[in-house]
Amino acid sequence: MAHPLFRLFGGSNRKTFDSIVPRRTFDDVILPPATKRALDLALAQVTTHDLVFRRWGLAERHPGGTALAFNFAGPSGTGKTICAEAIAHALGRRLMVVRYAELESVWMGETPKNVSAIFRIASEEGAVLFFDEADAIASRRSTTVDQGVLRETNTVVNVLLQELERFGGVVIFATNMAVNFDPAFERRIRTHVLFEMPGPAERAVIWRVQMHPTRTPLADDVDFDALASKYEVSGGDIRNAVLKAALLAASEDVPDEEKRIHQRHLIAGIEDVLGGRRVMRQNLQEQSPSGEATARQEIEQALGALVARRTAVAVGLSAAAVVVALAALVVAVF
Ligand SMILES: Nc1ncnc2c1ncn2[C@@H]1O[C@H](COP(=O)(O)OP(=O)(O)O)[C@@H](O)[C@H]1O
Ligand SMILES: [Mg+2]
Repeated sequence: MAHPLFRLFGGSNRKTFDSIVPRRTFDDVILPPATKRALDLALAQVTTHDLVFRRWGLAERHPGGTALAFNFAGPSGTGKTICAEAIAHALGRRLMVVRYAELESVWMGETPKNVSAIFRIASEEGAVLFFDEADAIASRRSTTVDQGVLRETNTVVNVLLQELERFGGVVIFATNMAVNFDPAFERRIRTHVLFEMPGPAERAVIWRVQMHPTRTPLADDVDFDALASKYEVSGGDIRNAVLKAALLAASEDVPDEEKRIHQRHLIAGIEDVLGGRRVMRQNLQEQSPSGEATARQEIEQALGALVARRTAVAVGLSAAAVVVALAALVVAVF
């Protein structure tokens, strides 16, 4: 039952939001104790909020300022998305996932209008709104060189604040660690939940829960504790490693009934994930000095062009002034 506006927003290949029926719950996520405590507090606020403002109808009596906004902060792959889904699941509501970075690039120039539309749809569906990759909204208010972009970003933040003021539901922002929140934005965020990297104990459980409890064929040599203590990785990395390992095991040249995931598959999987990351980091390092240089050159060029234009205008104006003065002199003389 797709909303008619779905098609409007970005078409099929670049969809900027998804409205899903949540399936994953808090049972699917293994968190370090401090993160778990912070999340429990957030959930308590959410459930009482839902009871008071929706089921007891007080949102209708007292519209405005009833939105509950949270920030989930932490490195990628630490479970922010699953937890947003689990919160929606706990409330029995849909989850509307907005990829903010994508949204901004697709809607260049029209972002504020579409942010309003998203809040309207979420409100109609009674969905929990989840702004993924929201670092840009939270922090970029006055740091960009391009005045056009800056103006748009400021408008987006202002629209977002207004919409938050009106929205009666739950809004979750996901950001990577050290975001400097705009103060006005910060005031509207009820609670920050810090998603920490899992420790060895959590990692061992995360390895285990990535497998199906009964159907995934694990060999006897699989040792999750050993993997957990050797590799300091996020839950997202573990997930990717397990999928790679399963594909490796499945492609071995033995009858299907004899196929098993062995420790060596899991090791190959996680090494592959880490290796991919090393390659990416290296590429970034190789690229960034020249990338910065071109960005700087562009800015310098733009400034140069501006100065040249200003100079031309100034020369033109002085020439005009001389002409006017001469004309005045002529008039005065005759
Ligand atoms: N704490 C965790 N417990 C269990 N699985 C996790 C955890 N963190 C990440 N994962 C696995 O990694 C995947 C990606 O995690 P995600 O929630 O998208 O991370 P984030 O949103 O913080 O980048 C999840 O779908 C899940 O399979
Ligand atoms: Mg995520």
